[in-house]
Parts: sequence; structure tokens; C-alpha cells
Amino acid sequence: MPQILIAGCGYVGQATADLFHAAGWPVEGWTHSAESAARLSAKPYPVHAVDIANKAQVGARAGTFDAIIHCASSGGGDADAYCQIYLNGARNLLDRFVGTKLLFTSSTSVYAQRDGSWVTEESETKPPRKTGRILLQTENFVLAHDGIVARLAGIYGPKRSALLTKFLSGTAIIDPENDRFLNQIHRADIAAALFLLLDRPSPPREIYNAVDDQPILQNECYRWLAEKLNRPVPPFGKPKGQPKRGASNKRVSNAKLRRLGWIPRYPTFAEAMEKSILSSFAEAIQGKPR
Ligand SMILES: NC(=O)c1ccc[n+]([C@@H]2O[C@H](COP(=O)([O-])OP(=O)(O)OC[C@H]3O[C@@H](n4cnc5c(N)ncnc54)[C@H](OP(=O)(O)O)[C@@H]3O)[C@@H](O)[C@H]2O)c1
Repeated sequence: MPQILIAGCGYVGQATADLFHAAGWPVEGWTHSAESAARLSAKPYPVHAVDIANKAQVGARAGTFDAIIHCASSGGGDADAYCQIYLNGARNLLDRFVGTKLLFTSSTSVYAQRDGSWVTEESETKPPRKTGRILLQTENFVLAHDGIVARLAGIYGPKRSALLTKFLSGTAIIDPENDRFLNQIHRADIAAALFLLLDRPSPPREIYNAVDDQPILQNECYRWLAEKLNRPVPPFGKPKGQPKRGASNKRVSNAKLRRLGWIPRYPTFAEAMEKSILSSFAEAIQGKPR
């Protein structure tokens, strides 16, 4: 069986490593910290602490792989952190494992459209911030080395949903003048997409959007949660600070990935919430006064 390195065995990386392992691939996972690696010591595959931004550390690693998934995260961070983790991380991996297929998990934040239009992999990418431009630079580097890019939408899944967390903590605000489409994807569907892209004799070395079937307006998400959980609709107002994904407002298409045969298990926000996410937030949902 081919062997795979998951460089960034975090929320997405773990689910992906588990899926490849279950399919019989020998897997190795990397984290940044020794603590995270130790937390994963019960996994049926080895997980080591290796800083992909550190050329010497990566260069000193033994082993050969048929594929690498670069899904380490800068955890937000500034342009310098992006440069270190994404661009230098990708360079260090390909310097050490020359000729190995590299799949980079980028972000749909590279689409800066603000008019609610549909975007595909062919659409313009003009991110206003330096961080977004570094993601594009990393994408171009990976593609120039025959790699694959998966542009992930906002990630949610068991115990993770930024929107639900805000709703439950009472910090959600609906801004009726600036409503925008949210593009999201369940962690299990990302893992399945990454598996589909690599588990084939000649993986297509291109860009793929990884997103569910139904972009949904933010106010609709909050209204759906309010009705489902029998709580008040969040107040109207102007959110403080910069939105994480800039001021973009677009609907990201998954048609290209679907054409490869990928079928999301959680095609809509409602299905992801009902079948997977709400139950993982049971304590927070029950613990709060209505
Ligand atoms: N969050 C979103 O909605 C979103 C949207 C689009 C794309 N993405 C991208 O999706 C990918 C996966 O995100 P995620 O949510 O799974 O991230 P995550 O849960 O924060 O996990 C990140 C993993 O990367 C590891 N890591 C961080 N820096 C590293 C380094 N220098 N060397 C080696 N490993 C390192 C972390 O190790 P430690 O635990 O030791 O720190 C952790 O295992 C990332 O590339 C992220 O940018 C995220």
C-alpha cells in the first residue's frame, strides 16, 4: 500500500489520517508540539512532533512517502506565521521528500468576491490581505511541483462550529445591512474529499473547492438555530472588529469535486447540525438558560 504523511494532525488532519489508516494505508502524522503528539499516542499510527517550518527538523526525518497532506494550521496568525507554516512548510516538505505528491489544504478565503456571486476554481482570486496572498503563493508553489490544492470552506463538525459557539454564548449578531453567504464543510466530508483526490493512480494535480452543497445566509443560519433550539433570534447590530474572512460574500461551488464522484455526507447546514454537530454541543446547549 502507498504510505502517507499527514503534516498537521489536528482537527482535519486526524480525521483524514484515521480514514487513510482504515483504508489500509500506512500513515504517519506530525504535529507542532510534543504535547499534541503525546495526546495522539493511542492512535494506531505513529504521530511525531516535527515543525514543518523548521528546515533542519524536516530534513532530518527518515522515511519515504507516496503522498503528503499539508494541513498544518497557522491558527490565525499574521503574515509572517502564514509564510512560515504554509509557504516555508510546503518548501521544506518538498525539499526533503523530493517528487512526493503534495496536497495542500488552502482556503476559500482566497475568493474576495463581495456580490454574493457563485465562484468556481476558475474565478478571480484577489484576496485583500497579505495572508490571503501568501496562501495563493503557496498554492502556486504546490501546483508548480505537480501537487494538488484543496480550498476548504469554513470547517465544522463534532465539537467545532464557530457559528454555533457564538450563538450559544450570546455573542451572535445579525447585521441586516451586511448579510453574507457562509460556505461551510463538515470535517468528515473534507477527509473523504482528500482521500478521493489521492486514492487514484494519477491524482489530478489541480485546484478543488471543498464545500457543501448549499451556501447559506448568515441570518438564516441563526434563525434556523433559534427555531431548532427554541431560543431568541440574535439581536440586530454591527459586529465589532474585522470579520475573519474579510468582507467577502460569495457562494462557492463544489461542482468540480462532485464531478470526480465526491458526495458530501452532510450536504447542508441543517443536516450537519442535526446529524452530527448539535449532539456534540449537548452540554453547552443544556447548560445555558433559555
Ligand atoms: N478553520 C477553518 O475554517 C479553515 C478554513 C479553510 C482552511 N483551513 C485550513 O485547514 C487546515 C486544517 O485546519 P484545522 O482546523 O485542522 O487546524 P487545527 O485543528 O488547528 O490543527 C492544526 C495542526 O497543525 C499542526 N501544526 C501547526 N503548526 C505546525 C508546524 N509548524 N509543524 C507541524 N505541524 C504544525 C498542529 O499541531 P499542534 O497541535 O502541536 O499545534 C495541529 O496538529 C489548515 O491548513 C487551515 O489553514 C481552515
